[in-house]
Amino acid sequence: MTKVRWGLLSTANINKRLIPAIRASERGELVAVASRRQAAADTYAAEWGIPQAFGSYGAMLASGEVDVVYIGLPNHLHADWTVRALEHGLHVLCEKPFALTLADVDRMADAARDNGRVLAEAFMYRHHPQTKAVGEWLRAGRLGAISLFRGTFSFTLTDHRNVRLIPEWGGGSLWDIGVYPISFAQYVMGGPPEWVFGDQRRGGAGVDVAFSGTLHYADGAMAQISSAFDVPWYTHVDVLGERGRLVLNRPFTGLVGGQRRLTFIDAQDNAEEVPVEEQELYSGEVEDMHDAVLDGRPPYLGLDETRNHVRTVLALYESARRGERVFVEEISD
Ligand SMILES: NC(=O)c1ccc[n+]([C@@H]2O[C@H](COP(=O)([O-])OP(=O)(O)OC[C@H]3O[C@@H](n4cnc5c(N)ncnc54)[C@H](OP(=O)(O)O)[C@@H]3O)[C@@H](O)[C@H]2O)c1
Repeated sequence: MTKVRWGLLSTANINKRLIPAIRASERGELVAVASRRQAAADTYAAEWGIPQAFGSYGAMLASGEVDVVYIGLPNHLHADWTVRALEHGLHVLCEKPFALTLADVDRMADAARDNGRVLAEAFMYRHHPQTKAVGEWLRAGRLGAISLFRGTFSFTLTDHRNVRLIPEWGGGSLWDIGVYPISFAQYVMGGPPEWVFGDQRRGGAGVDVAFSGTLHYADGAMAQISSAFDVPWYTHVDVLGERGRLVLNRPFTGLVGGQRRLTFIDAQDNAEEVPVEEQELYSGEVEDMHDAVLDGRPPYLGLDETRNHVRTVLALYESARRGERVFVEEISD
């Protein structure tokens, strides 16, 4: 195999981001889309110039025409369709949040291992050179000991029928966008927190329209994360160490409406722009999948990391429910 054949499992909105990234690569090609209705698949395939259209997800999995499936389904469907694709011998790139329980994360990981296939979570920002530059600064010790991480992601959700507002489908701002600062905090701190404290504001639909969490690490470092559906678009990250801080003005999104900047501010408040190579936001996760499938390299974002941030989300929701801190180790399924 010299090129990976991609199939889109659903006509999800998010496909629009992945399609150009696949098409820009020399190691992949987009060959198929599946939808729950044949007419929808046909219309979508015609609109996007995709060669094959399947009228059910199962038909695409059984077709023998695709190597990698991209799962952009509503959150509660990620686990079942990932496992089904793996059992058909296909590799899977599954959207965030990967799964809504630890039992599902484990079921998905087991299916990947048992079928000898690649499985990765689609956290596109983790592959971007700007995120990797933060890791290089930390490894080089340029910030000194890390004391505090602050990360936030919000946007205004106006569509009252959006799947992000359905509680039993994994709705809520924390599952949808709070997972980004949680995952970034884990990347910076090198692992999950020891305990968390969560607070949420619920909307009429019953899901958190705003969430705020404190994450406490074994060495005393702390992270503050927040997410919201009821304020205008905003993303931001600060990594604070004893020698200064790194500031990311748009850590989780593309360049629409502004320039991505990574700034170092030292102890004397001098600011230095850190040059970062620009890269299309979704191409890193696509190329990583190509490397894993074609060259046998482990995915850059391992399933242990995925399991740990899902566990942290579950601990935060549990804490918000109980109104007290929750040790992440308490969360077992
Ligand atoms: N990484 C990122 O930047 C990013 C950005 C946005 C979203 N996401 C993630 O991507 C996933 C999809 O989000 P989205 O906004 O693209 O979703 P969306 O546009 O609502 O699409 C979801 C698709 O799932 C299929 N589906 C199957 N059963 C369904 C059901 N019962 N109700 C509704 N749709 C159903 C539909 O496709 P068919 O009708 O063709 O079957 C639908 O088009 C989510 O997990 C989200 O967290 C990631």
